[in-house]
Amino acid sequence: MKRSVEEHAERFSAKAAAYDDSKSAEYHACVNLVIEHADPSAEDVVLDLGAGTGAITLALAPEAKRVIARDISEGMMAEGRRKAEEAGLSNVEFAYGEFRDPNVDADAHIDIVTSNFALHHLADEEKREAIRVMAETGARRIVLGDVAFFESPDPSEPFYNPDVDDPATVGTLVEAFTDVGFAVVAVERVHDQVAVIVAERIGSGDAVPGAE
Ligand SMILES: C[S@@+](CC[C@H](N)C(=O)[O-])C[C@H]1O[C@@H](n2cnc3c(N)ncnc32)[C@H](O)[C@@H]1O
Repeated sequence: MKRSVEEHAERFSAKAAAYDDSKSAEYHACVNLVIEHADPSAEDVVLDLGAGTGAITLALAPEAKRVIARDISEGMMAEGRRKAEEAGLSNVEFAYGEFRDPNVDADAHIDIVTSNFALHHLADEEKREAIRVMAETGARRIVLGDVAFFESPDPSEPFYNPDVDDPATVGTLVEAFTDVGFAVVAVERVHDQVAVIVAERIGSGDAVPGAE
């Protein structure tokens, strides 16, 4: 991670009010694909990690039983809470939570985990650990949209800020999902630096391979 959790939180809180109006076409395409692949039923509980101002959370809430939104930036979550209230969504809960510790009750039943444009703030080993934490929630499906490289990125056209972002290759992320007992059932190429990866649990989910 090129910045501490606190530094990332402060950075996002400072731009929270303008965040929704500053996004690229690729970001919007990625959001739409994450929503489409998450596809919760009315009985499903969704955990949205790095939820920010709620792009995924608020879109899935009308379809799902409940959406648990976690983020480190109070400013981003304040925007999300405001929008949830305006939309009359009462099944959404924004609270502090990190990838390494999402702050979810141990007895909470999670069906689907989503995360959009957030995991690339972590170093690759931390991303692997975050994917393990996602798997250990017991979810049957994980949908990850993020900056990730299909091939060597063109240095003249970075889709990310090398000072603060640390994207992985798509291959590294796919391997991290398979290592924790998930099958990658779809990889969507939004851009050569933006991917949506859809992973489904193999088996019952009682144990995550390699977990102690
Ligand atoms: C680019 S925004 C994406 C927000 C939202 N998912 C979206 O699609 O618009 C990245 C978010 O990740 C959050 N974030 C960064 N590092 C995090 C961490 N270690 N744990 C949880 N959230 C984190 C930031 O606070 C920020 O709200």
